[in-house]
Amino acid sequence: MEFFDTHSHFNDEKFDEDRDELIKEMYKQGITKTVCIGYNVKESLHAIQISENTDFIYSSCGISPNDIEDFNEENLKQIEEMAKHEKVVAIGEIGLDYYWNKENKNKQKELFIKQIEIANKLNKPITIHTRDAVMDTLQILKEHPVNKKGIFHCCPLNVELIKEGLKLGFYISFSGNITFKNAKSEEPVKMVPNDKILIETDSPYLSPEPFRGTRNTPINVKLVAQKIATIKEISLEEVAKVTYQNALNIYEIKE
Ligand code: NI
Repeated sequence: MEFFDTHSHFNDEKFDEDRDELIKEMYKQGITKTVCIGYNVKESLHAIQISENTDFIYSSCGISPNDIEDFNEENLKQIEEMAKHEKVVAIGEIGLDYYWNKENKNKQKELFIKQIEIANKLNKPITIHTRDAVMDTLQILKEHPVNKKGIFHCCPLNVELIKEGLKLGFYISFSGNITFKNAKSEEPVKMVPNDKILIETDSPYLSPEPFRGTRNTPINVKLVAQKIATIKEISLEEVAKVTYQNALNIYEIKE
């Protein structure tokens, strides 16, 4: 069985001490692909470096709404240049976060839209971070269609968002959030068809149960897959297989 963790942050400093060993270990345990996701200029570059050093790791670059201090013309140009790299498979993570930042909504929207434009220019999908901003996120995606679509990363378990996101042609990626005790994940997981579902860890954050609160690694993506298998009443093999193929499709990775 092989798994594709569609969203991890091996660039995070929490991996500085044992990054190389962990990368080897995850492969050994069957997590044979991941995308190292950027979120500001520096960490996008770092993500690309990591993907250059390892065959089975890809990268993305972008400025997240929580790194808005990086938002200026020069940095956007840098992101655009970096994103031309052959291992960069998406623009992201980009989006809106009104949970951490309510004060600069217009600036967040502008940054999101400008990076959608970069994605369209380069013909790459986007990976979306959205928190407490469902309506505005959907509105922007409707007004600024993304050619290559993309992924709702760590998708909030919000039925309306998933319904509309699917209508727009986006993939839905679930993380450790579906394993949490009060998550109410049944309905959201069931409503995503098998050809639009993805799995991720968002490591080092969001460890699934029973490891909640500890440092997360891509190895734990199996626990997310297992939860989906249980909810959808299909085998773990089936979840591994469909999510792996979906990830290859959206990131346009040829094997
Ligand atoms: Ni992330």
